[in-house]
Amino acid sequence: MTHRIAIIAGDGIGTEVMPEGIRALEATAKRFNIDLEFTHFEFGSCDYYLEHGKMLPDDWFEQLKGFDALFYGAVGWPDKVPDHISLWGSLLQFRRRFDQYINLRPCKLMPGIKSPLAGREPGDIDFYVVRENTEGEYSSVGGKMFEGTDREVVIQDTVMTRTGVDRVLKYAFELAQTRPRKKLTSATKSNGISITMPYWDERVVEMAKGYPEIAVDKFHIDILTANFVLHPDWFDVVVGSNLFGDILSDLGPACTGTIGIAPSANINPEGNFPSLFEPVHGSAPDIAGKGIANPIGQIWSGAMMLEHLGYKEAGDAIVTAIEEVLSEGDATVLTRDVGGEGTTASLGKAIADHINA
Ligand code: NAD
Ligand code: IPM
Ligand code: MN
Repeated sequence: MTHRIAIIAGDGIGTEVMPEGIRALEATAKRFNIDLEFTHFEFGSCDYYLEHGKMLPDDWFEQLKGFDALFYGAVGWPDKVPDHISLWGSLLQFRRRFDQYINLRPCKLMPGIKSPLAGREPGDIDFYVVRENTEGEYSSVGGKMFEGTDREVVIQDTVMTRTGVDRVLKYAFELAQTRPRKKLTSATKSNGISITMPYWDERVVEMAKGYPEIAVDKFHIDILTANFVLHPDWFDVVVGSNLFGDILSDLGPACTGTIGIAPSANINPEGNFPSLFEPVHGSAPDIAGKGIANPIGQIWSGAMMLEHLGYKEAGDAIVTAIEEVLSEGDATVLTRDVGGEGTTASLGKAIADHINA
């Protein structure tokens, strides 16, 4: 059976880490006899925007909906196109129109990587952020009034639906149930945000009734960020709204040494639409063009894609290869964010070699 994968590299280091993501996937596909067919798309990048005046062609939904998965690099180049135009016009459309309501983001301190948190070893940090991915604070409800006058008003409402909140909570509880510690932490801010966040808390309490074996706690987002740094070992599955999940999923990986290794899966669990796999990081204009970006976030996202397509063993083989290469700690291979002096290609090649070995 052929699995059709749409490739959108995007901008900046997205175009540099993508070839390494594909290299790892090709090695894995060969080893496990998986038939992957890649189709490359130019749209979804700022260069496409400069040429066409939009991020995506009008028929993008039709063009992509039949794929088995989307493999994305990173998008955004603020000097060319304002971020809210490039991101709202591409990635956020995919998430919303393909109903990818789960954004699953593992945070794991890997062997060989030094955490910026003193004394933390692999095993101390190993949790998932489950981020609501289609509503919440990222809503299109709102507007601008009295523009250009001193009565100017801007409003963007947070939208929480019972369906939207319950389905992400259910996913997070189910995930917690598969984990040895069976623990779920909810990110809230119901002390200050007095309508949507108490609603979120209520739905957590309601959902928890169906999962008596899960230990549930909650923190307001402000102290939760502090606890990520002070007590990362407390966390197992952390579930949050779209914005809170976004913030936690950069902070978590930073605690594991670098956001360059963090993967993500934007999932439509029902399989009605393709899911999208991409690193957590962005296009990193500050290091783009130098060939020094860490490709592990992209490669690990490919592992999550294989698992989603039903090839757990193949996905695990990629993660094992990543761990092996990081453990070896060869500075000529590793990129700078993890203490080496190697390149995107040297690290990507080493991982592919381990997959082949
Ligand atoms: P960023 O993630 O691109 O970069 C933040 C910092 O992390 C930079 O110093 C960068 O050099 C470093 N970094 C990121 N990835 C790295 C890697 N693989 N290896 C080594 N270092 C890495 O975030 P930003 O600077 O806020 O955003 C830059 C652009 O990317 C903006 O246009 C933003 O909107 C966009 N963005 C896109 C995505 C996405 O496509 N999913 C995610 C985040 C940001
Ligand atoms: C992410 C990114 C996006 C988000 C941006 C680029 C719109 O930060 O995938 O985490 O906020 O979701
Ligand atoms: Mn983010």
